[in-house]
Amino acid sequence: MQGTTRARLKALAAITVFLGTVSLSCLILTVTFTVQAAPFSPAIQANEKRQSLDGSDTDGYRAQLYLANKVYDDVENLLDSQTLDSCQMCQQGMQIAQTFALQAPKLLPGVLRSLCERYAFKRLDACAGLMERLGPQLVGIFAEMNLTGSDGYYACAYSFPGSCPVPLHLPQNITFPKPKPVHAQPPPPSGETIQVLHFSDWHLDPLYRPGAEAKCSHNICCRDYGRWNDPGPIKKRASKWGEGKCDTPIALGLSALQAIQLFVPNASFGLFTGDIASHDSWMITEKYIEEEETRSYELFKQYLQEMKLYVAMGNHDSYPSDQAPGRMRPNSYITHKWLYDHVAGIWEKNNWISSSEADYARSHNAMFMTRPMPGLKLITLNTDLYYVRNFFTMLDTDQDDPSGMFHDLILELQDSEDHNERVWIMGHMAPVTRTLPRASVLFQRIVARYSPHVIAGVFSGHYHQDKFIVVHDPDQEQSEESAINMVYQGPSITPLDKSNPAIRWYDIDKKTFSVVNAYTATADIIDQAAYWEANGMEPEWKIEYSARETYQDPEAPLNPQAPLSPAFWYRAVERMKQDRDLFKKYLQYESKSSSEARECHKGSACELETLCQMQASTVVQHAICTLQADSLHKHKKRPKKWEAFGTTRAGKTLHVLDYSEQRGVNGGTEVESLEMAAQQRQQNLLRRRLDDSKGDL
Ligand SMILES: *[C@@H]1O[C@H](CO)[C@@H](O)[C@H](O)[C@H]1NC(C)=O
Ligand SMILES: *[C@@H]1O[C@H](CO)[C@@H](O)[C@H](O)[C@H]1NC(C)=O
Ligand SMILES: *[C@@H]1O[C@H](CO)[C@@H](O)[C@H](O)[C@H]1NC(C)=O
Repeated sequence: MQGTTRARLKALAAITVFLGTVSLSCLILTVTFTVQAAPFSPAIQANEKRQSLDGSDTDGYRAQLYLANKVYDDVENLLDSQTLDSCQMCQQGMQIAQTFALQAPKLLPGVLRSLCERYAFKRLDACAGLMERLGPQLVGIFAEMNLTGSDGYYACAYSFPGSCPVPLHLPQNITFPKPKPVHAQPPPPSGETIQVLHFSDWHLDPLYRPGAEAKCSHNICCRDYGRWNDPGPIKKRASKWGEGKCDTPIALGLSALQAIQLFVPNASFGLFTGDIASHDSWMITEKYIEEEETRSYELFKQYLQEMKLYVAMGNHDSYPSDQAPGRMRPNSYITHKWLYDHVAGIWEKNNWISSSEADYARSHNAMFMTRPMPGLKLITLNTDLYYVRNFFTMLDTDQDDPSGMFHDLILELQDSEDHNERVWIMGHMAPVTRTLPRASVLFQRIVARYSPHVIAGVFSGHYHQDKFIVVHDPDQEQSEESAINMVYQGPSITPLDKSNPAIRWYDIDKKTFSVVNAYTATADIIDQAAYWEANGMEPEWKIEYSARETYQDPEAPLNPQAPLSPAFWYRAVERMKQDRDLFKKYLQYESKSSSEARECHKGSACELETLCQMQASTVVQHAICTLQADSLHKHKKRPKKWEAFGTTRAGKTLHVLDYSEQRGVNGGTEVESLEMAAQQRQQNLLRRRLDDSKGDL
């Protein structure tokens, strides 16, 4: 093979990936196209050799190279274009990537790996590992993208921040089986309560090693990475009990389960809102995920005994991480049947759900319905299906509900309304950020339709922090009256992100299943772990706070039987706006009283944004909070990395386009952009913020 072909292939690969595949922001930052003769990487050479020795396929392989050569010319023309903007360029790049994936699929995985080597990633092992895992799936996804529709547009917007603006497509058709009853009210409280346990984001790391580096350059530390360890002496020694840059060591996991036994041995049942596995997405295998799940659920069963535990799938509960096809694809290059069969089997075996409920979960992406108590239906969603890091969300982008999950949710809620039953909804991720806007708005509308009379609460995890979100009726001005439901975003067990581990439980009204109080208990791993270890002590778990005592207005105390209604939380947020001490308490509890809790200074954009987001239940509302905070702090610097899309071979800087110029490019889907469409500057900020990878867990 000639050197120029190699160079061209390499450049093509660079462009293919740059334009079309990975969402690693490091890639976006560091890629500059330099098309010059460069030797193939060992990975490519090996790949090449294997395939040509394969004999039978030599002709096919030649044909692929020929194709690559031709496609390269198209890419050159594309990059030389003076007329295309960055979004059009990205979308056309998608078409090239699709051609490549369809006709030269064998080259892609090796090419992806070599790109990691070429572009000097900070963590070559992580990049290459991720590529290896995602490669085969990306080939399949490209093959199915409908590029005459909006799929390419979504892929650009979410994988290459700044290329195309984030599409603010709202649901096109939301219809409910029946209109909402007028004056729908929750039932009156009974005055009697039960306890319910809630824990989340377990993230057990079986490879955690006390004594390893606790301050490494990986996204999780406290492991022996062998030749991928950071050079030099250990900066901080990992304690036995955990560290703020590491996932959960088994010792901490067991300590948390003991804390559950200590504080809530009599809970009526428990919720686990997902994420069993560790954060090393670049190292995991199917087998690893399976075993983490088997072992962890076994432990939960062992400690909780007869207490039923209901489990939602998290983005780290699948292989590859974050990926979940919403429906069976024609070319089933990836299916989660093995995964859902596996987990549903354990849930059934542990007697957490019945065999018919488990069957439902197996055939519905791990969504299921169960009745923990008479009068209460629990609906468990798989929220991975609309997570923006799930590449399958780039397929079927013209549809509101490709997996049918929302459709099923509506039917279940209607059934409960018809039978005067109360409902809880649980899922890993509250759909308020890093979710497709369409799914997010759809979820909010559904919650609004069936609140406050049917849905008694929404429970989630994912963000590791202890937070709550007031859901308002989208058809009303935000007020105490428009507050119709609550998302309780539970704290994590993992101390990763410098936040302490925590468990949560609720007092629940026995008849209405409304939350009457919420408690969090935590152990100060961040500051005390080394001390406990040195003194042969166990972590000391303490009740951190009770929501009722903390957020109740001392001048207008609640009736003892009254639940923590959405209005209660609305008033708490309004008070935080005036009462700095109350707001500081919130921030302290958010990180589970970690000494590394973030500080939002008085009057800062951070403070405004945080307070606003406590009442923002959709991606759009969430982003508006950011825009409002930014507009009050014009000089606040955004990270430079989002300023421009990238640099082309010719050194041209591609400018980010304004959303308003993009109408019509995405297959004629009706684009509603709320009041923001006109505000171009704000749009840019919104887009950057939505794509800010901070908060991806
Ligand atoms: C692709 O999208 C276009 C525009 O939305 C649509 O008309 C067409 O039916 C889609 N093709 C397939 C195969 O889904
Ligand atoms: C909207 O959805 C409902 C229920 O799925 C369906 O019956 C109806 O035909 C749809 N309407 C439109 C305009 O697509
Ligand atoms: C749990 O229930 C038992 C038996 O009713 C009771 O003795 C015990 O105090 C309860 N424990 C807690 C922590 O509430």
